[in-house]
Amino acid sequence: MRYGHFDDHRREYVITRPDTPVPWINYLGTDGFFGIVSNTAGGYSWHRDARLRRLTRYRYNNVPSDTGGRYLYLRDDSTGEYWSPSWQPTRTALDSYECRHGMSYTTIDSAKDGILARTLYFVPPGETLEVWRLTLTNERAEPAEISVFSSVEFALWDAQDDATNYQRNYSTGEVEVENGVIYHKTEYRERRDHFAFFACSEPLAGFDTQREAFLGSYRGFDRPLAVERGHTSDSIAHGWSPHGAHHVRIALEPGATKEVIFLLGYWENPRDAKFAAPGIINKTLVKPVIERWLRPETVSAGFASLNAHWADLLDVLRVETPDDDTNRMVNIWNAYQCLVTFNMSRSVSSFETGVSRGMGFRDSCQDLLGSVQLAPKRGRQRILDLASTQFESGGAYHQYQPLTKTGNDAIGSGFNDDPLWLVLGVAAYLKETGDFSILDEVVPFSDSGAASMYGHLERSVRYTLDRIGPHGLPLIGRADWNDCLNLNCFSVTPGESFQTTQNIDGGVAESVFIAGLFTLAAKEFAAIAERCGKLDDADSYRASAEKMSAMVAEHGWDGEWFLRAYDHYGNPVGSARNAEGKIFVEPQGMCVMGGIGLNGGGNGSGSLAARMLTSVQERLATPHGIMLLQPAFTYYHVELGEISSYPPGYKENASVFCHTNPWLMIAAAMLGDGDTAFDYYRRINPSAREEISETHRCEPYVYAQMIAGRDAPTHGEAKNSWLTGTAAWNFVAITQWILGIRPELTGLRVEPVLPSSWPSYTATRQFRGARYEITVRRESGAATSYLVVDGQRVEGTLVPLMPAGETARVEVILPEG
Ligand code: BGC
Ligand code: NOJ
Repeated sequence: MRYGHFDDHRREYVITRPDTPVPWINYLGTDGFFGIVSNTAGGYSWHRDARLRRLTRYRYNNVPSDTGGRYLYLRDDSTGEYWSPSWQPTRTALDSYECRHGMSYTTIDSAKDGILARTLYFVPPGETLEVWRLTLTNERAEPAEISVFSSVEFALWDAQDDATNYQRNYSTGEVEVENGVIYHKTEYRERRDHFAFFACSEPLAGFDTQREAFLGSYRGFDRPLAVERGHTSDSIAHGWSPHGAHHVRIALEPGATKEVIFLLGYWENPRDAKFAAPGIINKTLVKPVIERWLRPETVSAGFASLNAHWADLLDVLRVETPDDDTNRMVNIWNAYQCLVTFNMSRSVSSFETGVSRGMGFRDSCQDLLGSVQLAPKRGRQRILDLASTQFESGGAYHQYQPLTKTGNDAIGSGFNDDPLWLVLGVAAYLKETGDFSILDEVVPFSDSGAASMYGHLERSVRYTLDRIGPHGLPLIGRADWNDCLNLNCFSVTPGESFQTTQNIDGGVAESVFIAGLFTLAAKEFAAIAERCGKLDDADSYRASAEKMSAMVAEHGWDGEWFLRAYDHYGNPVGSARNAEGKIFVEPQGMCVMGGIGLNGGGNGSGSLAARMLTSVQERLATPHGIMLLQPAFTYYHVELGEISSYPPGYKENASVFCHTNPWLMIAAAMLGDGDTAFDYYRRINPSAREEISETHRCEPYVYAQMIAGRDAPTHGEAKNSWLTGTAAWNFVAITQWILGIRPELTGLRVEPVLPSSWPSYTATRQFRGARYEITVRRESGAATSYLVVDGQRVEGTLVPLMPAGETARVEVILPEG
């Protein structure tokens, strides 16, 4: 069953009923000012940091769900009847409803009793405000008298404090209202230089800034008193809960249309020019901005510029394959999600409150893999920010706060895989841009001293070499990629964080996953070193990678698949010898990506890699994707930690943890097995799962972190959508390994490994300033792959680099599959 459909031409997902299984959300904003918005206008806004600069409130885990948002109410003043044109929060039955989530904008259309309402929500590029443009049309035969009410509930900036510290917060709230603009200025009197504004293009019949005055005591957003009785009370908040509500009266002749613009924005004043009079905000700088954006022509132009921005970005790679689900994910939604994860890391979604974590080090490095082609300059800055949360040892804070760019002490460090991801992120940046100057940037360490980026990478790699365990494999530390495999934790205290508690570290627990990641990262770094002319470094890191591969072959292979780890007692984890958790997915993909076990019989058959792929197929693959491990843990294993704390089939305990699936797609592609690679790709492609939305439940246009595994009573149900490394890795798997368009340090490689049913596909790729028009096809006579570039035959699969500004026509000929 579906709740809508894709409109690929407009790059939108169209939701045709409001009661989706969970809120289906979208993101507003492209840089700096952001918001989430659900299909019923739920969500909130923030500037740069969802915890420290929160503009509006939202209540997670509330009933009804998705409470708090960018609400508008319409009231028929002739009858007193009122409704929400976005369905929530009044949930009045509508005659029609349609929500379109597009690239950084959302529209919600509805009709009730002949009154049509369309609201467009977006953040104009470069501005620190969001626009809500309401268009009302009277389709009745007679004139209509409509009251429009807006409503936002202001957060007192620090969202964590806002939700907990009532002793202070009920006294600090302050607002100003001037010329119909509501200014929220809590704490502006003291250390804050910023305030929020909420403006409306129409003359006001009234306003409210005190929440209870607008809602009425003991009432919710579904039944605001002001709306019910038809007028606000011009309340001014003194403490309690500052609110923003406008009231506008509109008379609409039959057939007439009226546009009303609301702006919700953030403004920072220079510290020495904060006040116009004692306690009164100096509005000289913000007023012209408000005036400009309240004009319909500015709004239209701003929306056009947002659309142009996205059209430009998505033009970097366009593919036309025989599969529609692939096309729309690669061309639209997967690319879009990659940029959203880049912007937000994992900090905000329907499942992340924006207060708890900040940006993940590993997560952000991985996000670069899928987004660097879309935002290379910002990618460069992100790399430098991440490196500055590294310690001199090469270790890194696991998370950092986007506003302050400093490491998050509460989570700390010691996730021993973290530093290696930086190498992959930088490698992706260099491959895309060829900008080796980044390696000379001097970046401070978060404890003391500084080093060039090259030096940071060296330390990242050395961090592993300095922490080798008894089998010659990397020590796991607090955890590796799987934050929930806590081999040194031994937690028996309820509520204790598995992420921060480390009760015992015998220096024994090792990770085969990190070994695989190390071989990959060390080879990437060796290639970088070589390009920099540091041949000794290159040799030495290649030798380390070789040695690590040998260690994995010797101590990290279980017979039919790669082992996962050795625990605190030196016992194997993820082995046929275990009763539960015999096989884990992560080392299977990662070791092969690191090049381990690829060589064997002809075309990879008989190799460790081919054997592990068979084991994955037999033991982990389900129609809903590849599970993280099997058999699921049925009880709590204190020596394994959080992973066994989840009920079987959920999260890290044997769900389809989607992030890991592309590693297997890549491994299959490396083995030349396009059918398996693409089959695994389709199993978790959200668009290909649209038909089973009642089972999948999350948005069909973006990846979710997990899909409940075979052991779960709700097998196939997705959770934790949007902010997941799945976005970046799937983008890499499909575009670079299956379609095979792969940036490398020396140029663009085109080396597809296609499913056998595909005769051909076409693509255009912008790369280092040039444009490549690619046609891939099979040719029965061809013995090996070759290219024809602008009519000239080129052996192999590396396309010669074109000068910037030029267009090359690349034909890729593959032998018949
Ligand atoms: C979650 C994990 C997540 C980790 C780090 C844990 O509580 O269960 O899935 O990886 O936090 O954010
Ligand atoms: C989510 C985290 O954000 C990511 O870093 C981690 O690798 C996975 N969980 C698996 O535990």
